[in-house]
Amino acid sequence: MLQGKKILLGVTGSIAAYKSLLLVRLLVREGAAVRVIQTPASRDFVTPLSLATLSKNPVHSDLFAGDTWANHVELGRWADVFVIAPLSCNTLAKMANGLCDNLLLATYLSAICPVLAAPAMDEDMWRHRATQDNLQRIRGFGNQVIPVEKGELASGLFGDGRMAEPETIVEFIRSILLERKDELAGRKALVTAGPTYEAIDPVRFIGNHSSGKMGIAIAEELAARGAQVHLVLGPSSLAVEGDGITLHRVTSAEEMHRVALAEFAAADIAILAAAVADYKPVERAPEKIKKKDGNLVLELTRTPDILRTLGGLKKPGQTLVGFALETTDGRSYALDKLRSKNADWIVLNTLSDNGAGFGFDTNKITIFGNDGSELAFEKKPKQQVAKDIVDTVIGRNPFVKRL
Ligand code: CTP
Repeated sequence: MLQGKKILLGVTGSIAAYKSLLLVRLLVREGAAVRVIQTPASRDFVTPLSLATLSKNPVHSDLFAGDTWANHVELGRWADVFVIAPLSCNTLAKMANGLCDNLLLATYLSAICPVLAAPAMDEDMWRHRATQDNLQRIRGFGNQVIPVEKGELASGLFGDGRMAEPETIVEFIRSILLERKDELAGRKALVTAGPTYEAIDPVRFIGNHSSGKMGIAIAEELAARGAQVHLVLGPSSLAVEGDGITLHRVTSAEEMHRVALAEFAAADIAILAAAVADYKPVERAPEKIKKKDGNLVLELTRTPDILRTLGGLKKPGQTLVGFALETTDGRSYALDKLRSKNADWIVLNTLSDNGAGFGFDTNKITIFGNDGSELAFEKKPKQQVAKDIVDTVIGRNPFVKRL
């Protein structure tokens, strides 16, 4: 519950502004005090009357009203958190450059509380270098950015850029205001993530479509709760954020195996989310293989199974979590992996679930415990899925009673 928390909501000009009405409602329902600042452009999308009615407070919009000056410093100091949702491309650019031509920006520049922003824009605007640079900049100023979601956009196109759902934004607000910071202080964690590449020759490899998103989100979640995390990451283009993460970049299954083995001894918890290649070429050709007539036969050999190795080495007090990505019979394969690899938990995601698995920002999981527990979760953004996984495996999920 956010009872008594003071939340300042900034609304900017974007089609997604309609969702801010629902956000205000959810926050008020949780017992939070909500005050709203609108940019002038946002009034074309959602009215001050609606926001004032739902928040039960007058809406602020102008730096000057008549001959009175709006006290942006007071607003910025009042709030426990300043949430800008939706964050338009234009306001983002102004925030990145310190512009101050409306009340929202003046308040942003003088706020002393954490600032959380939920961008919303069309995919092409989202992908533009300028937008990505601006996001990087505002993150660098210490603001937190809620990831956009993939889906239908106002333009009618489908892609990245949708503002996170109000429920997700509330989760982020909770995670800022209801601190879990020190929950895992002093604990060590090992996470594997991403694909592995098994070289065929100097220019080709056997790999898979894993982006590393899920594992990185787990590493960031563990670090946010105070754990010292060793993240062993296969080839991934994604950035890793968060203090407390030691990043080991690896390429092949063998390298990942070696680093994971070295770090496991000191780990209290290991979550193996990597999509490790099960086979590699028996030989790596020293030069590029030239094409010839007829078929090419590649002989493959098994790579080490990291989860199985760690399962064999696991000591009392260590928690070992594996993943299972299946296309059929997910439940029985997941239970089989739990037993055969001596894991404490297996997180199952099935490719047949729309919006789950490789490359998506969302995932839909079921977690199986070695005590017979089985927990199915809704489809959620990967950051939220990471929270569910961590909550469950460290015993913070109220729905799981560990033996
Ligand atoms: N895993 C691993 N090392 C491997 C293969 C898999 O550590 N060489 C881990 C993955 O990180 C994941 C779990 O084992 O946590 C399950 O991986 P998956 O590929 O789904 O299962 P496999 O055991 O390889 O079985 P199969 O390919 O038959 O489904």
